[in-house]
Amino acid sequence: MAEPRPRVWVSQPLYADLEARLDEWFEVARTPRVTDHAPGAIAAALADADGALVTLNDRIGETEVAGASRLRAVANVGVGYDNLDVAALAARGIVATNTPGVLTETTADFGFALMMAAARRITEAEHWLRDGRWQGWGFHELLGAEIHGSTLGILGMGRIGQGIARRARGFGMRVLYHNRHRLPEAVEEACAATWTTRAALLADSDHLVLVLPYTADNHHIIDAGALAAMKPTATLTNIARGGLVDEGALAEALQSGRLAAAGLDVFEGEPAVDPRLLACRNVVLTPHVASASLPTRRAMVALAVDNLVAAMGFGPDAGHPPS
Ligand code: DGY
Repeated sequence: MAEPRPRVWVSQPLYADLEARLDEWFEVARTPRVTDHAPGAIAAALADADGALVTLNDRIGETEVAGASRLRAVANVGVGYDNLDVAALAARGIVATNTPGVLTETTADFGFALMMAAARRITEAEHWLRDGRWQGWGFHELLGAEIHGSTLGILGMGRIGQGIARRARGFGMRVLYHNRHRLPEAVEEACAATWTTRAALLADSDHLVLVLPYTADNHHIIDAGALAAMKPTATLTNIARGGLVDEGALAEALQSGRLAAAGLDVFEGEPAVDPRLLACRNVVLTPHVASASLPTRRAMVALAVDNLVAAMGFGPDAGHPPS
């Protein structure tokens, strides 16, 4: 008798044509509708799964894997994976994968756009117009910060940070970055970016963009002290993870004029947004959409499916589908 096929759980409906590849190898348990899984539901789904395809909304830690005795692999659709407790997974021999590379350019495009929108007050200007406040060309109204000729600071110089640096070159910006590890000279040259200390990055940037992964060590890396070290004319853009920024301190800095403007695509308690930020006019707020283009989202799913197939020991390098 043929061996039963491994069972994989897909936590959200993604793209049926891309997910179909899983059917070649596995018994697939799908989730029919976009679902905010209730506490306990993920553990229940993983209890009889050999593999799982999950998204950033699905938090998987010790509790979720405690009863998942067969689970071998969790493929995350996303480059960030702070929704996974990788240490808890590794302790049980569960492989975790993510989707680097395929969303780099789309996310860098958005990060640059958000930085520009904050600096040039684009959403604020639109609200002003829609609210009927436009009385004619306003010589003194809605003056923003320069992009060209200014200094861009990038905190976290991985693929996406480098993509933002390449874009900045076209805008005639000086690019500084800080990263735990300095990049090889050839990469610095290709991005026209100069390494500096974190303190100097905060002090010298006209526009600071956060593109670093979120870990317990860099929780609130941008706190009241960091904000006080920035220029009052500076902008802050976060396309990484909300937990990097102390949102209360940021709202205070924006309201008091201690910081000119901010662009935030990610939030500590998302989808909830701190009401103190909602009350600030000088912040552009978007709902975690930096990688949101159809080709990119499809590429993320395709890669996550490939990752799951490979991590489960199947695919082109590992033989044929089980019969
Ligand atoms: C990621 O992949 O980590 C982004 O935050 C969403 O695309």
